[in-house]
Amino acid sequence: MVMDFSFEAQKTQQRLLSELDFSPLTSQQKTTFISRLETNFQPLFEQVFPLYQHCFDLHFHLKTLLQSFIDFQKKKRPAQIKDKSEFWFESNQNVGIAVYVDLLADDLSSLIDKIPYFESLGINYVHLMPLYLSPEGNSDGGYAISDYRTVSPNLGTNKDLKDLAAALHKKGIRMVLDFVFNHTSDEHRWAEAAKSGDKEYQEYYYFMGEQDAMEYNQTVREIFPQIRRGSFTYLPELDRHVWTTFNSFQWDLNYSNPAVFVAVVEEMLHLILNGCDVLRLDALAFVWKEKGTVCENLPKAHNLIKAFKACLDIAAPQVVFKSEAIVHPDEVNKYIGADECTLSYNPLMMALLWESLATRQTSLLYQSLERSFKIPAHTTWINYIRCHDDIGWLWDDALSDRLGIDGIGHRRFLNQFYTGQFEGSFAAGVPFQENPVNGDCRVCGTLASLAGVETAIAADDPLLLDHAIKRIRVLNGINFAMPGIPLLYQGDDLGVLNNNDYLNDPTKVDDSRWVHRKKLTNDDFALAEDISTPQGKIAQLIREMIQIRKANPLFAAQEFELVSLGSEHLFAFKRQQGDKTLVVIANMSEHLIPLERLPLGKSLSELMGQDTAINLLDKSLIDLPSLNLIEPLDVLWLIKA
Ligand code: GLC
Ligand code: GLC
Repeated sequence: MVMDFSFEAQKTQQRLLSELDFSPLTSQQKTTFISRLETNFQPLFEQVFPLYQHCFDLHFHLKTLLQSFIDFQKKKRPAQIKDKSEFWFESNQNVGIAVYVDLLADDLSSLIDKIPYFESLGINYVHLMPLYLSPEGNSDGGYAISDYRTVSPNLGTNKDLKDLAAALHKKGIRMVLDFVFNHTSDEHRWAEAAKSGDKEYQEYYYFMGEQDAMEYNQTVREIFPQIRRGSFTYLPELDRHVWTTFNSFQWDLNYSNPAVFVAVVEEMLHLILNGCDVLRLDALAFVWKEKGTVCENLPKAHNLIKAFKACLDIAAPQVVFKSEAIVHPDEVNKYIGADECTLSYNPLMMALLWESLATRQTSLLYQSLERSFKIPAHTTWINYIRCHDDIGWLWDDALSDRLGIDGIGHRRFLNQFYTGQFEGSFAAGVPFQENPVNGDCRVCGTLASLAGVETAIAADDPLLLDHAIKRIRVLNGINFAMPGIPLLYQGDDLGVLNNNDYLNDPTKVDDSRWVHRKKLTNDDFALAEDISTPQGKIAQLIREMIQIRKANPLFAAQEFELVSLGSEHLFAFKRQQGDKTLVVIANMSEHLIPLERLPLGKSLSELMGQDTAINLLDKSLIDLPSLNLIEPLDVLWLIKA
């Protein structure tokens, strides 16, 4: 029998409504709540049903869930941001930065003093790296959470976080917090209860015997193979294996248990009470597991995330989700949509920009973006060049095959290239998590070090240095101009180089991502102020690009197309709004590249709609018919003169 979802949802909703305690709410709050429920209960029901239909106590869990929303409506949140526009993320005013509280400042209250710095840079979106209670020593940079409701004492108090949110909002800056919901630390109260033998809490995680763990391991990818082989950690006290996709102290939550879903939604509401505007869904590809599968990107992971989204829309509709899916491009895109994540990291473009700098070729970049860049209306890419994590070489191998590129060999080349093991490479990166069996590896390093600044300084070679800075310019010239929100990573705007201090810290030495997680000092800021230094030049070019982007509404244009300029070294695209046009041309090589006639016979003049253009980046006037060459590693932002 086919189920009539709308009828069943209505019936369940009515039953639940009659059982809920609305006494905490004013009648106005009650009306708002019921109207949100009217819109979002059925979507919620449609997602939880496939996940939990076999659970006899589902009604109980749904009731607990709805009651939590009611109680949540009563709680006070920090002052909200003034800009209430629904599609704020489409504006050209958006520029983001990701920062560690204690690496940019000392703690949450001293981070308030950095707001003028954000403002001077033009930032209006700040991702604060995880700041909750987590284990002493190694906590995977805070991604092992022991209590979602408590700020880590070395960063301050919950009140400090709320004060910071209010201070950011006052300046029109949105606050992004992590929602680390695939796992908790092994010190979370649920994990402690599980360790002490509490069966109810053991069911919050994946506890199993050796045989089961071995079976799962057959098909599951290893994320941190240098930490531990397989995806499980043995607990000798209990003689059980617990699922740990990442570090052994990060226990994966068992979402096949509806109690976990409800409990984690409640934690999510606590995060929202801190005043965040965006929740970053950490490691969301891993949240659903089934034996015999890769346990990544499973269809039910989408049911689960859609269920979270329906909860978000009931409780706090002004908050949006950002997806952190660093997986195959087709799978990345599946998390993006009105009923799932509004924002998503763009790991494909990130990886392929680096790929094209190494190869000096843009075909894989073009083909991949042609296939995967388009996402639904009113969803937005978070475009980035570097982040706090490693770079993984993710693209669709069917595309590289078609271009005659062997995926495995090409990834090996890129790893060698970016870790300085390739003759003539400009990059000074560090390998991350080399897999001893299949040779897989990823790359770490700051923007400046990977782009060649470190190597050029060591060689004391002005030409190499010039190229390195131009690489940073061309990467940013694309990143700031593509549709989406550009997201900087702390220190990259200051041209900070790799830092090896982590090698002396036993809690960090095994995780080379710390090479690009440096405590920013006054010296770093001072160097970036001095325009005679490479750091100063980098800081200046980034600031200028941000200013130009923010001053020009074309950077919010939704109409977008990739443009082929007939050279494998060039990358170009066009954005259009009404009769206004922006054409971006980038040369990924260190050579002068001639501009061929466009393949479809369109000239640059035709593309622009006239013969003269202004390059926004240097204000020069360009006669398009006589623009025949693109300078080495140059980038142009052309608009009609
Ligand atoms: C995400 C984070 C990464 C962390 C992992 C586990 O990928 O970005 O830093 O190690 O999730 O939480
Ligand atoms: C993420 C990714 C992986 C990344 C890691 C953090 O979830 O899937 O590629 O490197 O976690 O390092």
